[in-house]
Parts: sequence; C-alpha cells; structure tokens
Amino acid sequence: MIVLVTGGAGYIGSHTCLALLKEGHKLIVVDNLCSSSMDSIKRVEKISKKSIYFYKVDINNKNELNNIFKKHTIDAVIHFAGLKILSKSIQNPIDYYKANVAGSIILAEVMNKFNCKKLVFSSSASVYGDSLKVPICEDFPLKPQNPYARSKLVSENFFQDVFNSDPSWSIALLRYFNPVGAHKSGLIGEDSVGIPTNLMPYISQVAFGLRQNLSIFGNDYDTHDGTGVRDYIHVEDIARAHVNSLRVLETTSQLLKINLGTGKGYSVLDVVKAFEKASGRQIPYKFLKRRYGDVDKCFTNPELASQKIKWEAKYGIDEMCEDAWRWQLMNPSGYN
Ligand code: NAD
Ligand code: WQD
Repeated sequence: MIVLVTGGAGYIGSHTCLALLKEGHKLIVVDNLCSSSMDSIKRVEKISKKSIYFYKVDINNKNELNNIFKKHTIDAVIHFAGLKILSKSIQNPIDYYKANVAGSIILAEVMNKFNCKKLVFSSSASVYGDSLKVPICEDFPLKPQNPYARSKLVSENFFQDVFNSDPSWSIALLRYFNPVGAHKSGLIGEDSVGIPTNLMPYISQVAFGLRQNLSIFGNDYDTHDGTGVRDYIHVEDIARAHVNSLRVLETTSQLLKINLGTGKGYSVLDVVKAFEKASGRQIPYKFLKRRYGDVDKCFTNPELASQKIKWEAKYGIDEMCEDAWRWQLMNPSGYN
C-alpha cells in the first residue's frame, strides 16, 4: 500500500516507518519537525535501504495536505502527529487541542475528500485515567485526567463519529501503554527534548552520567514495592502492531479500539534493577512525594489485540532496557 505517516519523524513514527518499509509499503511522511529531527528519517532510509517521500508540513495546513493527496494516491494513513507532554498540555491546552484535535479533523477532512478511508490513530492508555481495576480492558470507563488525555479521547470520539456516519471507513484506534526501548541497530530511538519527563529516558541519562540521580515519585503506592507500576512496551512491538492493523484494515471496514501493552506490570524499582543489569551501571535514586496525577497501577489485558490484529508483544523488560541503553550509548545527545 501507499501509506501516509503523519509524525513519521518522531519516536514511534520512525520505528513504524521502518516496520512498514520492511513489509513492502511505500511511504510518505508529513511532519513539521516540532519535536523531532529529519535525521530519524535519514537513518530509517539507511537501515532499510529504501527511500521515503518527506514533507515538512504541519497537519493543520489543509492546502499543503491537499497538494500531497493530489500528488500521491494514498491508500491509508497512520496518524502519529501530535503533542504528547502531559504537563505542557496543562499549561498550553490551546496548542494541544490545536495539534491533536484540530489536526485530526483537518486530516480526516482531506482524507475524505480524496476517498482515502483507512486510518490508524495513536491514542493512549491515558484515556482510561485512574482505572479502578487492572488489567485494563478496552470496554473500561474512559476518564481522562488532563488536557492531553482529553485531546486523545476527543479525537477518538471524532473518528468514531466519522465511522458511524460512513462505515466504508476502516479505523484502528490504538491505545499505547508505556512505549520504551529503541531499534536494535541503536540508530533510531527516543530523542527527548530537554529534561525527560518519562521514566526510561530519564534512567538512561542517569546511567550515562548526564543526570545525577533518579527521583522516584512515591514509594507508598499499593504495589509490591510501593512504587508505581506500569505496562512498558517495546517500541518495535508497538510498530509491528501498526503493520498488523493495516493488514486488517486493508480487507475489512470496521472500527477497532485496541490496547497495546504486554499485560505485565513493572514497578519503578523493577525498571531500575533491569536497567542496572542491562547497562552494568548503578542508578542512584531518591524517593520524592507522589507526582500529581499519577496512578498506582496501570497495565492492560492484551487479549483483544491478539484476537483482532493477531499481535502480541515479543520483547520483555530486559530487552527494552538493553535497547534503550544501546541507543543512549550510541547517541548521547540524541540526533544532535
Ligand atoms: P514524538 O513527539 O516523538 O512524535 C510526534 C511527531 O509528530 C514529531 O515528529 C513531531 O514533530 C510531529 N508533529 C507534532 N505536531 C505536528 C503537527 N501539527 N504537524 C505535523 N507534525 C507534527 O512522539 P511519539 O512518542 O512518537 O508519539 C507519537 C504519537 O503517539 C503521539 O500522537 C502521542 O500522543 C502518541 N502516544 C505516545 C506515547 C508515548 O509515551 N510516547 C504514549 C501514548 C500515545
Ligand atoms: C512511569 C512511572 C512515575 C519519571 C506517561 C503519560 C501517558 C503516556 C506514557 C502518552 C510512574 C515514575 C517517572 C521519573 C519516576 N504518554 N517516574 N521518576 O506517567 O505512566 O505515562 O507516558 O500518551 O499518557 O501519562 O509514564 O514514564 O512518566 O512514568 O518515578 O523521573 O515512573 O511516577 O510511576 P506515565 P512515565
């Protein structure tokens, strides 16, 4: 298929581009590079030995999107483009709704105009908010707790309405849990802008010596060691789930809502131990009070993904840490 990938220069987008090229798809990437680098695309081309049509375009630019759809006969879209830093979404909700919600609407409008009706959308486990039960299934109540998570849920609802109005659309809404790790080559990975807010890139930088110690937010949670438990999932597994979703959307018209995680929960201290093993370095840490908005446990029931898109995670926490560490060692300051 000819696939347009929005946000394809980003962390998950670049890994997915590589998986799509391997599957034989032709790719067009649209990215405004607001939180990524063109180098990721160059490295994907280098690893795959294939080329990608790249457009430095904002998805809110309808004219440019129209031109791209005029130029290429696009069969499907994978929509990663958006802003993802939860704390910034509280300070700048307008930016977040503009990129994440308005961007989705403009994209769908242009897709509809060109009769391109297959879409995979990056949603997030944050749409569940503070779930009363784990493991989390797709039919659990949706209670997003911040503007970022609400922007994802609004987009989900919008795509659901588009599908309801015209069932010839075929849409997969993928709710990622905690994507981590990097490609085995060490050439592409997560390039955090500024101080990382997520656990794994922060630990990597501590192990490398870029930061003194890890602050662990809370050791009084109702978990096996008191620290927060999450469902970390290798970015290559996430990428493969997009390839599988496209396979399903290619031949059927439906709307899928699918959680992407391993189904296993690891605490912050479990991740620290696994990273120490992978890197052979000590991770000094100190306990701080709980971070606002954090939940004690969050992990998925991965059964629906297995049924609907024939997908399950291949990699465990050790490989996630080994691959994150290789990326850190080979790219101490990211793509720069
Ligand atoms: P990322 O920031 O690395 O990638 C996002 C990409 O979108 C970047 O390349 C950025 O330049 C581009 N972009 C942003 N706004 C744009 C716009 N208006 N027009 C064009 N391009 C734009 O983030 P990521 O981790 O790869 O996340 C990809 C998607 O997955 C996002 O939608 C994010 O919300 C979602 N998601 C991420 C996580 C996570 O923990 N990484 C978890 C759940 C969901
Ligand atoms: C994991 C655990 C922290 C940093 C976020 C978004 C979610 C999704 C993934 C986009 C928690 C603890 C962290 C640190 C720590 N993104 N921690 N010290 O909060 O589960 O999910 O990223 O959709 O929407 O909310 O991920 O990596 O920030 O935290 O102790 O310096 O690590 O308290 O228990 P989170 P995270």
